[in-house]
Amino acid sequence: MKFAFYELTLNVMMRMISGKRYFGSDNLELEEEGRRFREILDESFVLAGASNVGDYLPVLSWLGVKSLEKKLIKLQEKRDAFFQGLIEQLRKSKGAEDVNKRKTMIEVLLSLQESEPEYYTDAMIRNFVLVLLAAGTDTSAGTMEWVMSLLLNHPQVLKKAQNEINSVIGNKRLVDESDIPNLPYLRCIINETLRLFPAGPLLVPHEASSDCVVGGYNIPRGAMLIINQWAIHHDPKVWNEPETFKPERFEGLEGTRDGFKLLPFGSGRRSCPGEGLAVQMLGMALGSIIQCFDWERTSEELVDMTEGPGLTMPKAIPLVAKCKPRKHMTNLLSELRVD
Ligand code: HEM
Repeated sequence: MKFAFYELTLNVMMRMISGKRYFGSDNLELEEEGRRFREILDESFVLAGASNVGDYLPVLSWLGVKSLEKKLIKLQEKRDAFFQGLIEQLRKSKGAEDVNKRKTMIEVLLSLQESEPEYYTDAMIRNFVLVLLAAGTDTSAGTMEWVMSLLLNHPQVLKKAQNEINSVIGNKRLVDESDIPNLPYLRCIINETLRLFPAGPLLVPHEASSDCVVGGYNIPRGAMLIINQWAIHHDPKVWNEPETFKPERFEGLEGTRDGFKLLPFGSGRRSCPGEGLAVQMLGMALGSIIQCFDWERTSEELVDMTEGPGLTMPKAIPLVAKCKPRKHMTNLLSELRVD
């Protein structure tokens, strides 16, 4: 499941960024470019998750233990070449632009480059795109996998979500973006999954901008703070039965924040700028597959919910599931085509 969710989120993000749909198309050239692109991102995630002992024990860097740094420099060269290629393609096609077509993100940045070239440099555009892909793909795909794992272990919740979709949308059309606010139970499922399995369990390091006191501790200005939101989300002092999957606990909550109890997208000025997109992607992807298919575990055994190592807290054992089209959706499904 993760593989499929990952390709889906990459397609969504790359269409937004450069107008390209790499996966699931018949175009061999695009498939090949997509394969190179995936390789680069996979390597980025592996190296981002690796810790550099030299950062903690500088003596090791002096002694020449610099292999991670060397690998990162090589990887950055590959990434620069790939994203520069995309920029050049879009720069070339700029003259032939259709004024009615919605611009991709790179096209918007290239237009801004014309008026503010010293700020919107090619390097800035390359790295901007890379940050979005690195921060937005694995987090969203991983959350989709956790949602489906929880639903397979709690078929009554899956049934309730299907019933909600049946009554709000029916079987004559597919779930659409505009339906997401009208599917509050699906939203509760997403929130409860992000509570139990937040894709950024330690947020990203924050720095205190002034002296302050947190939980009775004096924090001097400039200190680095790491917020363990996983611990907050699992704290029995904060949640009733924190280890139980209970989407109903979020009934009536608007959005994804519950004070400072639930903060899957962080908080404050440096909170996740992709929250809106992530919630739409999660709602659309999960809503569609719940609407169109019946899902089952591959055996009687419950899906293993162990967390694996990694920045975005992936599942230790990837999810494999069985699905079949729901009877009353077969007509609609047979009309679908990929363009
Ligand atoms: C389920 C999906 C996602 C989750 C759970 C998630 C979670 C987070 C968290 C916890 C942070 C750190 C916030 C903080 O420290 O206060 C963050 C930062 C960030 N996220 Fe997301 N994110 C998701 C999807 C996305 C998407 C789709 C994008 C881009 C389109 C994105 C772009 C970013 C960026 C650029 C930052 C760094 C912001 C900064 O440092 O100012 N994220 N995200």
